[in-house]
Amino acid sequence: MTSFTVHTAPNTPAASAERADGVQDGALAWDFKGWTVRQLDRVERAMGDWVPAQAPAGLGEAMRYAVLDGGKRLRPLLTLAAAQSVAGQPDGDVPELALRAACAVELIHAYSLVHDDMPCMDNDVLRRGKPTVHVRYGEAQALLAGDALQALAFELLLPDEPVLDEALAARLCRVLARAAGHEGMAGGQAIDLAGVGQVLDQSQLEDMHRRKTGALLLASVTMGGLAAGASPAQAAALAAYGRALGLAFQVVDDILDVTADTATLGKTAGKDAAADKPTFVSLLGLQPARDYAQRLLDQALTALAQGGLPDTRTLERLAHSVVHRSH
Ligand code: IPE
Ligand code: IPE
Ligand code: MG
Ligand code: MG
Ligand code: MG
Repeated sequence: MTSFTVHTAPNTPAASAERADGVQDGALAWDFKGWTVRQLDRVERAMGDWVPAQAPAGLGEAMRYAVLDGGKRLRPLLTLAAAQSVAGQPDGDVPELALRAACAVELIHAYSLVHDDMPCMDNDVLRRGKPTVHVRYGEAQALLAGDALQALAFELLLPDEPVLDEALAARLCRVLARAAGHEGMAGGQAIDLAGVGQVLDQSQLEDMHRRKTGALLLASVTMGGLAAGASPAQAAALAAYGRALGLAFQVVDDILDVTADTATLGKTAGKDAAADKPTFVSLLGLQPARDYAQRLLDQALTALAQGGLPDTRTLERLAHSVVHRSH
């Protein structure tokens, strides 16, 4: 498993004595690293159980290759942290639906990566430090693995067990479907491909990023809040946080494509410029893009403080981690 250790490894913001991300250690003196390890373990075990090894003609193997054993798992961490922020227990148990939502959003994300990497899209050969799914299993199997992961995400939210609140589960499905579909990720990906070689202005670029990446991050936070019974004010604060952080996430992805190396990223660096993609770096330049990500981080933190959530420490730390990450 590639854990979220980027945030706690030596020389990264979360671990250094002089914090580069501006977090006051005193204000946040609790075990974020331990929290991360425990939640990642929870998510990995659940996905290991829920993503089938057995599916016709090797499909299960391709699905598991795509989703297990890699990735920062930011989206599930956000879902669990949002649920815990509502409950006021940063390390407490979460409702089963929150765990299911955490895994469901990661399955959608993993499927989006499988398709994003295919030759008809970004044509990438490396993902999460491994050959991409189509390189390993062929294009048709990669297409099908993505399809099956997407369907499985919704199945996870509506399992057979009658103990779950089905109305709430249906609501979570709607949130996730909207974020994944034409209004969200898929729509953003369409804009991304149509934008090759184009110069987009800032509002067009923002619209693309909010859809292709921001929508699923927002959904991660929203679903965690809903699963934990967030009040309208709490849900609004979580949504404002998720919107700002979702955009910041893709701005940083654009920056890392220019500044990080392939080994660190686990995916090929420098692809955006090579493919002539419009990005925040190509539009604004590197330092203004960094400043913009920092402003979005400030927005996310301000929004979070305004919802009457009983404990926002984990969400704060995750936000810092997103903007100051190294991969
Ligand atoms: C990469 O997402 C793709 C984008 C949406 C920009 P992540 O950086 O979260 O990828 P993993 O899950 O850690 O591999
Ligand atoms: C991908 O954006 C977004 C989705 C997969 C929806 P990118 O194409 O920038 O992601 P990377 O850089 O390949 O991870
Ligand atoms: Mg892409
Ligand atoms: Mg890509
Ligand atoms: Mg990218």
